[in-house]
Amino acid sequence: MKIAVVGTGYVGLVTGTCFAEVGIDVTCIDIDQRKIDNLCQGVLPIYEPGLEEMVTRNVDKGRLHFSTELAGAVQDCDVAFIAVGTPPGEDGSADLQYVLAVARGIGEHLSSYSVIVTKSTVPVGTAAKVRAEIEKALAKRGESIEFDVASNPEFLKEGAAIDDFLKPDRIVVGVSSERAEEVMTKLYKPFLLNGHPIIFMDIPSAEMTKYAANAMLATKISFMNDVANLCEIMGADVNMVRRGIGSDARIGTKFIYPGIGYGGSCFPKDVKALIRTAHENGYDMQVLRAVESVNDDQKSVLFNKVSKHFSGKLKGLKIALWGLSFKPKTDDMREAPSLVIIEKLLVAGCTVSAYDPVAMKEAEHLLGSSIAYAKDEFDALIDADALLVVTEWPEFRVPNFAVVSRLMKQKVIFDGRNIYDARELKELGFAYHCIGIQT
Ligand code: UGA
Repeated sequence: MKIAVVGTGYVGLVTGTCFAEVGIDVTCIDIDQRKIDNLCQGVLPIYEPGLEEMVTRNVDKGRLHFSTELAGAVQDCDVAFIAVGTPPGEDGSADLQYVLAVARGIGEHLSSYSVIVTKSTVPVGTAAKVRAEIEKALAKRGESIEFDVASNPEFLKEGAAIDDFLKPDRIVVGVSSERAEEVMTKLYKPFLLNGHPIIFMDIPSAEMTKYAANAMLATKISFMNDVANLCEIMGADVNMVRRGIGSDARIGTKFIYPGIGYGGSCFPKDVKALIRTAHENGYDMQVLRAVESVNDDQKSVLFNKVSKHFSGKLKGLKIALWGLSFKPKTDDMREAPSLVIIEKLLVAGCTVSAYDPVAMKEAEHLLGSSIAYAKDEFDALIDADALLVVTEWPEFRVPNFAVVSRLMKQKVIFDGRNIYDARELKELGFAYHCIGIQT
């Protein structure tokens, strides 16, 4: 089989590389020449555990190619994936100009039957627009080549993307012909060996499934953050409540960890887009509007605790921050709660010294010299009046607290991810604040 993947962002790169890993001939296309040159050298535009080695291995084996030439890649491919960005417009709706431009390009170069698959997260109805765009381009050429469109949303988590792709919980594919279903079954067969199901459905349902999945997960998180805030007021312990409800299989143990709000490039964008799509079609997604508003407030919760602890006298304090990325194992800073926290600290007159195991460069792009970048987690603590744990990187979980307390000016910890034990920290002489537990 031969496939083309257009767009070498997060989704496209992981998708193309993982298909190459099972022996399929893959060409990844991008219009950015520098990105393609780098990829040919094994230099990746993103950090994702294990991906660099996998790219290099498959390039060396001659199964994975990178190019800026759409024509050569789509001419005789069995499947072409569209995996370009759908950035949110001003009003929150997904901007489809890149997706449709690729569809046009495919229509201009297609030479035999192919399945054109949308992999980017796109609103319901997009595959139909892709089909129309390809038909238009074919008509212009005076050609009537047969093709199908399909929707195959991805459910990869940054930081665990390779495992998610190779061992998926499920694969969702929206199709409108048996021929396309056969091609997609053949393509995904290597990933179905351990009983992971491939679920075929109509195209609009597949498109909606992606949004509904992310919206449901975001809802779980905002719900838990709301419960955590109430636990704190009422003297309950959200960790206990979480374990108590999570053991009910109908609720489940995952994605009910309270914290400082969800971030990243997916939940915030997709929740907004779904609210917007509904609104445009005369429906009000009331629950999702609340999910979004709880999340906006939650990003300020840690700062509010700092302000309360120091009775509003924040000017001149030195604050250490552990973690900048929106979650561990990624350098992604998009919609990261750290950005909101840092802005509030700076406005209040604090100085900030931050450390993140991989997101330092990314942070410097966004924040410049407004904060100090520590060389490691302990360097960030020197003379600090407080430590804020913002991202739960594994290396922050069991620090040497004797060193921590020696380095800090004041022994105060604000734990935005509930990774420490309140009783232990109190015994060690720290003032300790976390989410959803009175301290
Ligand atoms: C999310 C989905 O989990 C993927 O299935 C989906 O494919 C992806 O979006 C996408 O649409 O591309 P991702 O954004 O990489 O993946 O990250 P998650 O691991 O889902 O975390 C999202 C946010 O939720 C993070 O800020 C995290 O800290 C927060 N979170 C997660 C919590 O606050 N509590 C939890 O219990 C779990």
